[in-house]
Amino acid sequence: MTYLAVMSVRMAPPLPLILLLMILAFHGVSGADWGVSYSPSHICALKDSTVIMRCTYKYPTGYQIMKAFWTKTPVKDNGEYPDLSEDPEYSQRLQYLGDKQQNCTVRLSHVTLKDEDEYYFRFITDKEKWIGKPGVTLNVTDLQVESPERVTEGDSVNLRCKSSCALTDRATFIWYRNSQPLTERRDRNNELLLQSVRREDSGRYSCAVDGHTHISPDVQLNVMYPPKNVSVLISGSGVIVEGDSVTLNCISDSNPPALNFSWFKENETSAVGSGQSFSALQSGRFYCQAHNQHGSQRSDTVTVTGEAFINTLLYLHIIHQFGELIMMIFLFQFIMLLVVM
Ligand SMILES: *[C@@H]1O[C@H](CO)[C@@H](O)[C@H](O)[C@H]1NC(C)=O
Ligand SMILES: *[C@@H]1O[C@H](CO)[C@@H](O)[C@H](O)[C@H]1NC(C)=O
Ligand SMILES: *[C@@H]1O[C@H](CO)[C@@H](O)[C@H](O)[C@H]1NC(C)=O
Ligand SMILES: *[C@@H]1O[C@H](CO)[C@@H](O)[C@H](O)[C@H]1NC(C)=O
Ligand SMILES: *[C@@H]1O[C@H](CO)[C@@H](O)[C@H](O)[C@H]1NC(C)=O
Repeated sequence: MTYLAVMSVRMAPPLPLILLLMILAFHGVSGADWGVSYSPSHICALKDSTVIMRCTYKYPTGYQIMKAFWTKTPVKDNGEYPDLSEDPEYSQRLQYLGDKQQNCTVRLSHVTLKDEDEYYFRFITDKEKWIGKPGVTLNVTDLQVESPERVTEGDSVNLRCKSSCALTDRATFIWYRNSQPLTERRDRNNELLLQSVRREDSGRYSCAVDGHTHISPDVQLNVMYPPKNVSVLISGSGVIVEGDSVTLNCISDSNPPALNFSWFKENETSAVGSGQSFSALQSGRFYCQAHNQHGSQRSDTVTVTGEAFINTLLYLHIIHQFGELIMMIFLFQFIMLLVVM
């Protein structure tokens, strides 16, 4: 640091002068009196936030500050470091909070990932110049939710709100499910622990830091579970009419959806059919069993009636036909009546 300071006094001093200055530097003549210190020297800031780079500087008495400013990445143009406050990328966001004695604190608002850089404080006195190297390293991070892709009901699930660097300021994390803030569960640091995850926990999760506008992108949590609420849907009346069949459908709620169904007749051990729908050709009491990779569940039993009802049906059939016959006779008589009139 000392060496740099001395070097910056003149661009190309002759060799004996360098030696002389190095000896002076070694004895700490100027090094003790000149300096810039940053606290902290590494900053990890959240995207869109405001960063305060705390800084103090010193120089020997008898010198007068002509210019003091912040610069980044040591690129000199025209032999001088560029003043960031004159850079259109920074001018609106940079505010010097320091003074001309010892405080060189600066504030940078609405930081973006593009602001990641090393920043330096530069001051020019009536006689000499100084730049505080190394500078402040600014890292800017956004937030990402880290979550297992697939979880099964009952699992213990840990969601993490991840940043690319450890945030300098103490952060309280906030969690959202389907854009609604979560209040019911306590998070531990930047983690959201879902102990014994439930179906209702499925949704889009995002996180943020209290007091900051930046919010992470959504991450989908998909909770898998075995079939539930398995039931049989009967098409029509559930009565088999001669030679016909009754179609039964197995309905279930599961994630992923059940693709494998087995049909059983009550008190029989082997399946009588498979597939989501089943055609019952005989009367009996049936139930279905729905499977997915997480388990299976059976439905209640449904009754399909056949033979016992056939006679009644036949009877109804005759009544129906007979009814039509009566109607025909009635109509015929009515027409005859019209013709006669
Ligand atoms: C420097 O100025 C900033 C902003 O006004 C202030 O917060 C900080 O305490 C000052 N530092 C010192 C060492 O005076
Ligand atoms: C932090 O910023 C510095 C300066 O731009 C960069 O060199 C470094 O790679 C960054 N670190 C991380 C972890 O992004
Ligand atoms: C499943 O059954 C339970 C209890 O009967 C009920 O509370 C729940 O709403 C049902 N779920 C669906 C998706 O039908
Ligand atoms: C359907 O489930 C039955 C009974 O668990 C099993 O034997 C069969 O292999 C399964 N079929 C498919 C395609 O998963
Ligand atoms: C099945 O078994 C149960 C109990 O053993 C009995 O009550 C029921 O009547 C039986 N059902 C049929 C259709 O045989």
